[in-house]
Amino acid sequence: MSSSSSQFLNFLSWRNRYTRLVIGVVAISALVYIFLINNIQENGFELDSKAKGHGDLELSQVTKDTIYVRKVFKDWQTCIQKTADYSEFKKFWDSFSITLEKCKNNTEARLVELVPVKNLDEIKHYIFSPKEEKSVVVTLGIGADVEAEKWIKSKLPADSEFFGADPIVSPNSDLFSPIGIFFPIAVGKDTGLLQSNVRLDDGNYKMTTMANIDVITFFTKLMNRTLIDHLFLDNEGPEYDLLPMMAKNAEFDAHNIVICHMNVEIHHAPVGSDKAEKFVRMMKQIFADGRYVPIRAVNALHQRTFFINVDHPYCINKYLTQFFPVQKQL
Ligand SMILES: *[C@@H]1O[C@H](CO)[C@@H](O)[C@H](O)[C@H]1NC(C)=O
Ligand SMILES: *[C@@H]1O[C@H](CO)[C@@H](O)[C@H](O)[C@H]1NC(C)=O
Repeated sequence: MSSSSSQFLNFLSWRNRYTRLVIGVVAISALVYIFLINNIQENGFELDSKAKGHGDLELSQVTKDTIYVRKVFKDWQTCIQKTADYSEFKKFWDSFSITLEKCKNNTEARLVELVPVKNLDEIKHYIFSPKEEKSVVVTLGIGADVEAEKWIKSKLPADSEFFGADPIVSPNSDLFSPIGIFFPIAVGKDTGLLQSNVRLDDGNYKMTTMANIDVITFFTKLMNRTLIDHLFLDNEGPEYDLLPMMAKNAEFDAHNIVICHMNVEIHHAPVGSDKAEKFVRMMKQIFADGRYVPIRAVNALHQRTFFINVDHPYCINKYLTQFFPVQKQL
């Protein structure tokens, strides 16, 4: 072999090695990239910058503490999926609050402390943030009782916002106006005329035809807020339609609407009724999503339930990391 051809062969094998190296580097980078993308999606690094409300990006950062809280509620989810027994509706309904309590007790979810808040005829709950940031509090169905909102308003930063909707103007308008903005409408799944069981001025309930506005339009157009710290949902029935809208990839997600926690009165579902079937389907979905955790329920004919958002970084960082300081994470 002449020296020039051997140089040429050398060049070829060098080029081969070089090509292999390049391909190798590209392949490894691609794998790392795919891995990162998957991880980012899994850990939800999305910042939801579109959510209107307070636009606090810092509170939407995923930190070690955020991930720890998510892990705690993964354990809760594992527990609830092992414990919940759907075989018979009545059993599921009657044991609902006990089942929730068991999984709270059996996991670090027990460290979450709810603050009881008195209404006229019941106890609601709230979680206060140790961070002095404004909050957005929404009431759907005022029902002539604003004790809880009044007390919460006195505890929150002064620039916090309250919104309330009820189709019955008197006395709700007068009661709510000192607290926040009152909307004299029924809020539900769809816009249109609907038969609703509403509380009249004299305290009685009556099936009445009401103009309804859909909840997405209500939040995004009338309230003009999509980041909601707390929701009181007590409007005689629509919870069976609204909770499924909060499932992963459902309507609320499509409009970037985030709710951090909520008191929901889930109305009595008689055995064999439409509601009974909906209740089971709804809870299965909520447990499978692992986004909202019903941390507590009281079965007083209706299931008075408190849900916390254990998924969105804004909600976790503002409300839940306080219960899991580093020394408790060991
Ligand atoms: C909606 O709220 C944002 C602040 O969150 C504000 O900048 C904007 O002007 C509001 N839009 C309307 C139509 O009120
Ligand atoms: C959960 O723990 C509390 C406090 O220790 C206890 O009073 C309650 O009975 C427990 N509930 C269940 C269902 O285990």
